[in-house]
This record gives sequence, structure tokens and C-alpha cells, in this order.
Amino acid sequence: MRKRILSGMRPTGSLHIGHLVGALNNWVKLQDEYECFFMAADWHALMSEYENPKDLKENLISNVADWLACGISPKKSTIFIQSHVKEHLELYMEFSFITPLGWLERCPTYKEQLREVTNRDLSTFGFLGYPVLQAADILLYKAQAVPVGEDQLPHLELTREIGRRFNSLYKKNVFPEPAALLTETPRILGLDGRKMSKSYNNFIAISEDPKIIRQKVQGMFTDPLRIKLSDPGHPETCNVHNYYALFAPGRKKEIDELCRNARIGCTDCKKELAEILVKSLEPIQKKRNELLKNKRKILKILEQGSKRAGAVAAKTISETKSLLNLA
Ligand code: TRP
Ligand code: SF4
Repeated sequence: MRKRILSGMRPTGSLHIGHLVGALNNWVKLQDEYECFFMAADWHALMSEYENPKDLKENLISNVADWLACGISPKKSTIFIQSHVKEHLELYMEFSFITPLGWLERCPTYKEQLREVTNRDLSTFGFLGYPVLQAADILLYKAQAVPVGEDQLPHLELTREIGRRFNSLYKKNVFPEPAALLTETPRILGLDGRKMSKSYNNFIAISEDPKIIRQKVQGMFTDPLRIKLSDPGHPETCNVHNYYALFAPGRKKEIDELCRNARIGCTDCKKELAEILVKSLEPIQKKRNELLKNKRKILKILEQGSKRAGAVAAKTISETKSLLNLA
């Protein structure tokens, strides 16, 4: 029996190359090794975007088109929508009784978001419960592992704690302890050297137009010590060089030497990188556009996935309900 994993993304805005190298490429590989559940976490999106749900559905379809275009396959994996499997909310409710407020208030992601996010009001009941719903997402499928980024580790720890508490309160080993699958996902920084993020507008979308890719790459920050063409560069501190490592590893060494010896200028170096990015995104974009011509087909995949997920979810819920003496 293959081990089961579950992972999810909130459908907010377009996915970028950070998602591609940080998560999606990894998901694609995991499909051959694990029984995979990949979820569009629309409830989680609403927890922060509740004031503006206008684009939720569009974003969801667009994100899932990106997944499929990158190689997530409905033949190998269960791809589904969180809100279409109502059991997520039932388990969320059951977990809400047994989760002490202190666990949630102390959660570092919660504290950080309350501090950092100033353009939305996140001091809500729902937002405090964000990790409880995430615990329900994971444990509903009794996932043994969860591929996540480091930022999500506190949520995974809470998931284990909630599961343990449930098992001990109701004296039955219902939930396994999911492990974090922290594969050495390469880190990619944004165009300005900060974390790549939609809110910083420093990203290249997976669906980015080639013209825009060329513009954005030309605007990337480079080695700040290199002012004139004749100045030797320091590729190890240059974000452009890091992009070479990720998208054209075979070209990395030579660029390194050319840069150090001032035999290539930053403009040319970025020009070449832009073409590399355009080329590597081209097949994904082609597939994505093809998919988006027939949104009904994407919805159909999600409908079938949600049905499959629902069957697993229903089993878990009948187990928990009987422990709670819910009829
Ligand atoms: N909180 C995750 C994020 O923001 C998304 C998510 C929701 C998730 N439910 C999940 C990730 C379950 C892994 C497992 O990225
Ligand atoms: Fe960076 Fe390339 Fe300029 Fe060197 S030549 S500093 S690697 S952009």
C-alpha cells in the first residue's frame, strides 16, 4: 500500500514560478510514489479574502489549470475542492471543541499575520481557527505525510496535537500522526531579492506573457557591487545567477566564470535568462491555454476528484461521529 499524502493551496491570484519550483514540481514527482490528494483550499482563501470573494472561482479554475499544465494528473491523483467535500467542516467543528484557545493564539503564523496584514481585518473568529480547518483537511484523509513549505510547520505540529488529543479523549487511535515532507525544495527569491510573493508584486507568473517576462527579468536586481561592465561580478550574491541554477543548471558554471571575469554584461546575462524562462514556461503555458479553452473539463475533473475525496472523508466522519455519539 502506498502512503497517502495531502496538500493544498489557497486559490488566490495567479501561481508564480516560486510555486512551480517550490511546490508543484515536487507534487508532480510525489504522484508516482504516494497516493496523493491535492486540494484547492477555497475555505482557507475566504478566511483572509472574505471581503472580496469576487475572483475566488476564477482563481480556483486558473490555479487548477496551472496544476494540470505542470503535470498534476487526475489519473494519478485526487484533485478536489475543499468546499465540495462537506466533511471538512464537520471535522473542523469536532476539532474546534477540543482545541484550546491558547494553542491557536500562540501559533506563530497567526501572530505574524495579525501583525503584518494591515489592509484586511483578520481579527476574526474564523481566522483564529485557520489551523483547525487545516488539521481537519489533513486528518480527514488520515494522511501520513504532508508536503509543505517551512512556513507551514507550525500548522502541521498543531495538526498532530489535535489528532493526538482526539485519540486520547475518545480512546481510539483514529488519526495517524502526519509527518512533514520537507523535500529540498530550492528557494527562489522575487525579482527584487525579497521573498517571491503576490503582495510584493515581484513575481513571474507561470502564465506570464513572454513580453512581460523579458521586461521583468531586465528589471531584476543584480550584484550591487558591479557598476561598470568591466567590474568583475559576484555571481554567488546575484539573484539572476540563482535563477540560472534553477532553470538552466547546465549553463550555471559558465555564467559564473563569465561574470567573475567581467566577460558578460548584466544586460546580456538577463537577456539570456529571460529566453530560458520563456522557453521553459512555454510548454506549460501551451497546455494551460488549451485547458482553459474548456473550463467544463476542468470542473469535471474537480467534480470527480471531490467525489473520490468525499468517499474517503465520509468513512472518517462516520468513525468520529460514532465516537461522539452523534446519531
Ligand atoms: N495553509 C496552506 C497554505 O497557506 C494551505 C492549506 C490548507 C494546506 N489546507 C492544507 C496545506 C492542508 C497542506 C495541507 O499554503
Ligand atoms: Fe548577475 Fe549575470 Fe550580472 Fe553576473 S553578469 S552580476 S550573474 S546578472
